[in-house]
This record gives sequence, C-alpha cells and structure tokens, in this order.
Amino acid sequence: MNFPVDKLKNIQTPFYYYDQTLLQQTLDTINKEAGKYEGYHVHYAVKANANDKILEQIRKSGLGCDCVSGGEVEACINVGFEADKIVFAGVGKADWEINLGLDANIFCFNVESVPELEVINELAQAKGKVAQIAFRVNPNVDAHTHHYITTGLNENKFGINLDHLEDVIERALKLENVKLIGLHFHIGSQITELHPFQSLSEKINEIQDMLESKGVALKVINVGGGLGIDYVHPERNPIPDFENYFATFNKYLNLREGQELHFELGRAVVCQCGSLISKVLYVKEGTVKKFVIVDAGMTDLIRPALYEAHHNVENISNHGDEIETYDVVGPICESSDCFGKDEKLSITKRGDLLAFRSAGAYGQIMACQYNCRKLPAAVYSSEL
Ligand code: LLP
Repeated sequence: MNFPVDKLKNIQTPFYYYDQTLLQQTLDTINKEAGKYEGYHVHYAVKANANDKILEQIRKSGLGCDCVSGGEVEACINVGFEADKIVFAGVGKADWEINLGLDANIFCFNVESVPELEVINELAQAKGKVAQIAFRVNPNVDAHTHHYITTGLNENKFGINLDHLEDVIERALKLENVKLIGLHFHIGSQITELHPFQSLSEKINEIQDMLESKGVALKVINVGGGLGIDYVHPERNPIPDFENYFATFNKYLNLREGQELHFELGRAVVCQCGSLISKVLYVKEGTVKKFVIVDAGMTDLIRPALYEAHHNVENISNHGDEIETYDVVGPICESSDCFGKDEKLSITKRGDLLAFRSAGAYGQIMACQYNCRKLPAAVYSSEL
C-alpha cells in the first residue's frame, strides 16, 4: 500500500487510515463474483467496522447490512440503508432493540432461541405487525479457526441445536405475528480454507431435505460470514478470494427454485483497507532486546492482546535496507500490550510512523478508553 506519508505525518497519532480505493476494488470484486449466481445477496457484517463513511461506501455499492445490536441498526438506518436490506442477529436482543427493528420494518430477525421467538411474536402483535424471522441453526461444523471466533459447534452459545430444529419450526408456524422465511448459519470467523464452507453446504443440504420431507419450504438460506483474509501478506493478497468462495457454495449447496442465498461478510470486506498508524515515542535498549515503544496500544487495537493475533507492522517513514529486530510495544500498563516480538523493521527512530496492517476489521470498532485514553480517529484517503 502506498501510504501518503507526507500528509499522514502531520496528523495526531494514533489514528486509523482507510484506503477507500482498495475498499471500492474489494466491493466491486464482491459484486462481480456474487453477481455470477442467481439469487446471491451479500450483507455487510457491520460489527467489523461501523464508521459512517465506510458504511456509506458499502451502501452505495448495493450491499445490505447484518446487525447485531440496536445501535448497529440505528447506524445503518442513519446512513440510509433501506429497511429491506437490514437483517438483525444476536443471541440476546433486548425488547427496545426488537421494537426498533419492528418499527423500521427490517427485512428479518435471525432468531436464536424459543424464548426470543415468543418475545418477538408478542412485541410484533402489540404493534399489529408480522415480523419476518429466520432461525439461526447451529450446524455443528468445525470452522478450523481460533477457538474464540469459532461459533458453529454444539458447545457454543449461538443458534438452535439441530436436534431441536423441527420442534422450534413447528412452534413458529403456530404463531401469528412471526413469519418464518429462512434459516441462518454462521460457523466462525477468519476461515482461510474453503472446506469448512463445503461442509456447511453439505449440512444445509441435509437439513433442507429433512425439512422438505415435512413440507417446510424456505425463501432464504443465510450462510453467515467468516471468509478470512491474508494477515501475513496484505500486499500480495489485498483482496480475498471471493471467486472461489462463492463458487464453493455454488458447487456444493443445492439452492431450491427461487430460493435466495445470503452472505454476511465483515472482515473480508473491510480488513485490508485499514491500517492503524502510530508514532514511535522511544527506542529503548534492553539487555537482550530492543524495544520500539509506540503511542498506540491495546486500547486502539486489541486483537493481539485478546486473540494473540498478529498484524504486520511496517515503518512507513523509513524504507531503508538496513534492518533491525525489535519488540514493538504500546504504552498501556499491561504486559499483553505488545504488538509483536522480534519484528524486523527498517532502522527505527523516535518520530517514525509505523503502520499496523490489516486493521480495517475489528480494529477501530473494538477500541476502548482504558487508562483514560482518547479513542483513535479515522482518516480517509479521499479526504487528504
Ligand atoms: N455473521 C455472524 C452471525 C457473526 O457472528 C459474524 C462475526 C459475522 C457474520 C461476520 O464474520 P466475518 O465475515 O467478519 O468473519 N473480533 C473478532 C471477530 C469476531 C467475529 C464475530 N462474528 C476478531 O477480531 O477476529
């Protein structure tokens, strides 16, 4: 990525920098690849990044949105997403959040339990409305990813277990203020191989066969998100392999006549376009190591501390050939406030700018104010 360092160096650090050209190329690729197949619709998983400008660009590209809180539904309505492109998931929706969705006439509630089904029915009845719903099914498919971001196994809190599905559907069909339109699945995040999506497709085929034999036909199958990105080579792979991702579903998932296939992609849409930019405060010589102490910390980008995730780090002020090995650490009073050990960087000095790459998803949105720190700002390529 070509960082406009001359402009960035005058901005108060730390901040997130978003390359909107790359975001647009990513969105265009999604539209091109999903557009090859009849009935494929992509919703953006807002939880990855809910900045207005990002949401707006995504909306203009024609994607829908997948929300997991009333706040996200509001954010999407505020930037002009049409109600019939908003889906609302989440294991614990509060009454006010359900009412918000009902008032806005959103497309669908993804329901995760019988008590939730009953509350949605009650609240819809009070408004004289019929809420469209899909059941989130826990398919017990292993996503082969970090255990913190695996969601589709029986041991997880998400979704309705397959054994209960028939009963739950029967219950829903008896209620007057909900209309069952689909099934929803999501097996995990940062999935870098395609075979878990093949397994998911095959599981969905079995479920559909079973339901069809009971006379239940559904309009929508939603396979969630989870397509991973290349954290190791953001330069080589700035855009995920959407071609093979959609082709996998096309090959293995038997959509019924007129049925729609929905996707909820978060990370794959926004991750590579964002970097956290931080300034080097000090270079400290330890007894066995050299430390680069930067002004960004785990409050700005928590993924390394929370998931042992690694973001490539680059000295964007100095691209010299002379390389040194450093531990790159933040200023927060926690030992886990460390971005990387034994990082190979061009010789680094006080005042240099470092870019932590692949931080557009689950970066800025997960920032917090621990140590009374300020939240990082957003800087957009089109505004420089
Ligand atoms: N749909 C549902 C129901 C989800 O739970 C998620 C993510 C998505 C879609 C979008 O998944 P994606 O396409 O972004 O993989 N904070 C973690 C990731 C948590 C993902 C939670 N669910 C991280 O920083 O890696």
